[in-house]
Amino acid sequence: MPPLSLLRNARSRPDPVDQPARKRGRRLVAACLRPPAGTTLALLVAIAAATGLPVLAPQLTKRFVDEAIAGSALGPLLILAGGYLLLAVGGLAARTFTGWLANGWTWDGTNRLREQLTDHVLGLDLEEHSRSSPGELIERVDGDVMAIANFLVAFVMDVVVSVLLLIGVLVSVFLINTWLGVTLTGYCILVFAGMLAGQRIAVPAGRRSNEAIAVMLGGLEETFGGVEDIRANGAGGYLVRRFHRTAGAWIRAEAAEVRVGILVVAGISVAFAAGTALLLGLAASLVVGGAVTVGTAVLLVQYALLIRAPFERLTDQFRQVQGALASLDRITELLSRRSTLAVPARPASVPDTRPWDVRFEGVTFRYDAGDHPALRDVELTIAAGSTLGLVGRTGSGKTTIARLLLRLYDPISGVVRVGGVDLRDLDQAALRQHIGLVTQDVQLFSATIRDNLTLFRPAAEFRPVADDSRLRQVLHEVGLGAWLDDQPDGLDTLITGISAGESQLLAFARVLLADPAIVVLDEPSSRLDRATEQRIDTCVARLLTGRTGIVIAHRLASLARVDTIAVVADGRIVEHGDRAALASDPASRFARLIRLADGAPR
Ligand SMILES: Nc1ncnc2c1ncn2[C@@H]1O[C@H](COP(=O)(O)OP(=O)(O)OP(=O)(O)O)[C@@H](O)[C@H]1O
Ligand SMILES: [Mg+2]
Repeated sequence: MPPLSLLRNARSRPDPVDQPARKRGRRLVAACLRPPAGTTLALLVAIAAATGLPVLAPQLTKRFVDEAIAGSALGPLLILAGGYLLLAVGGLAARTFTGWLANGWTWDGTNRLREQLTDHVLGLDLEEHSRSSPGELIERVDGDVMAIANFLVAFVMDVVVSVLLLIGVLVSVFLINTWLGVTLTGYCILVFAGMLAGQRIAVPAGRRSNEAIAVMLGGLEETFGGVEDIRANGAGGYLVRRFHRTAGAWIRAEAAEVRVGILVVAGISVAFAAGTALLLGLAASLVVGGAVTVGTAVLLVQYALLIRAPFERLTDQFRQVQGALASLDRITELLSRRSTLAVPARPASVPDTRPWDVRFEGVTFRYDAGDHPALRDVELTIAAGSTLGLVGRTGSGKTTIARLLLRLYDPISGVVRVGGVDLRDLDQAALRQHIGLVTQDVQLFSATIRDNLTLFRPAAEFRPVADDSRLRQVLHEVGLGAWLDDQPDGLDTLITGISAGESQLLAFARVLLADPAIVVLDEPSSRLDRATEQRIDTCVARLLTGRTGIVIAHRLASLARVDTIAVVADGRIVEHGDRAALASDPASRFARLIRLADGAPR
């Protein structure tokens, strides 16, 4: 076995700021969010109307005032007033239409992004999953994507429309009087510079707040997920205290973010009031000097009022912009994570003669988070069609052996083969279709019995067959026939309350349905009553017939039917041989375990 320092270096994680991977992540996000050409065109037209019409409307009031002062007749004045109304209503309608288009586009795009992320997260290996709690991943897939969706809508409505409106107003004012235009432009630049400075303070504050909420939600998810163990251990108080701490950290981060936001808004308001006063003073002096008409002064007042809203909306976007940037950053980071399991360029096909033998050849493995190898130089052979019983103390490495056989991880050195083929040469999906695993932690979904058996795969795509009669047959085979008959909607019944034994049997039915070549049972009967254990034992026997199997058990009675036994201690196979031979050899470790277990089969 290589020395430990070498093992550490051999399994380095991908660099978290790996630039090409990030670029790939960003490209994926961009591809999801790109609007279709038709939508882009419609949006451009709607945006042009939403910004152009409000800039034109005050021109009519200018003419109205000037013509009224000049003593115009009522008719033309009424026409001007009507025109103003049309422009105002048209501007509002265009704004609403822009919002509708922007919402449709962003929600389509972000739903695509959600799907991509879910698919990506499901494809990551267990090592990656252990780096983030389910709560954090949910926050990434839902919370962050939602922040981006909200931001994109706001970007179109509040940033693009506002900036164009500002440009429209500036151009109009320049056309009236250069000095007025220069003053207004200078003032806008000052306010904008202030906003950028504010943003530099606001972005880190927002990121800290988002990170704090992800930690808090991750903890909550863990707490609610483990409610049974927490109650049993009386750990509720400690977990509430942990929640108190994480929630406190979030509230402090959030408060800091809000304080920064309020300061920025207040600064902009003061700057705005000063600018408006300056503009009006200038306009008054120009009217007195006869350079512009009263109507133009009214126009300026209207423009001064018109640009206030865009600036305020831009400022409001500060929080969303920085929140969305932080979200985007986390999403690209997640998308840039890669499974550490190499995908073969040309996957070998799975052996076509069943059952397959299983071989571990000098397998050494260490978890990333572990400081010592979980498996050391493991040599194991399971003959095709036979069953191996794995025994050993808790933490000795039994489950790790099963995980390596399912290729949830790759060994650091050594090879795992099924039917003579190195697992690393096989297509992962095909391999997992041919290996069935049942753990004591059966994951049931709040879905129908059918979906829980097929794991949502449509019957047409299921190999070998998963039509209703086959589903009923496997349920009968595992002894759940009577249970199924009691269900009000048969296979379409939603699974709600179900006992530990029933869920275990359902997991067996899943494996029977998939008809794998290799079956791994990890502690399948440790939490059950005697009667259920017997049902399960019968079921296990059926499951193992004609297949190669591994049964991991603390309860030696579960091993009555296995052919060979391997005793695992501290990641090594310390004994391996025929079950009956080991049981009858009083010097063997297995015989000692049997004597300790008191009354287990010989
Ligand atoms: N995801 C993980 N990350 C880091 N270390 C792990 C991980 N899973 C298991 N280990 C460690 O690897 C060693 C072997 O664990 P494993 O789960 O294989 O033991 P086991 O024999 O199945 O135990 P048990 O009988 O309690 O189920 C232990 O020291 C354990 O702490
Ligand atoms: Mg285990």
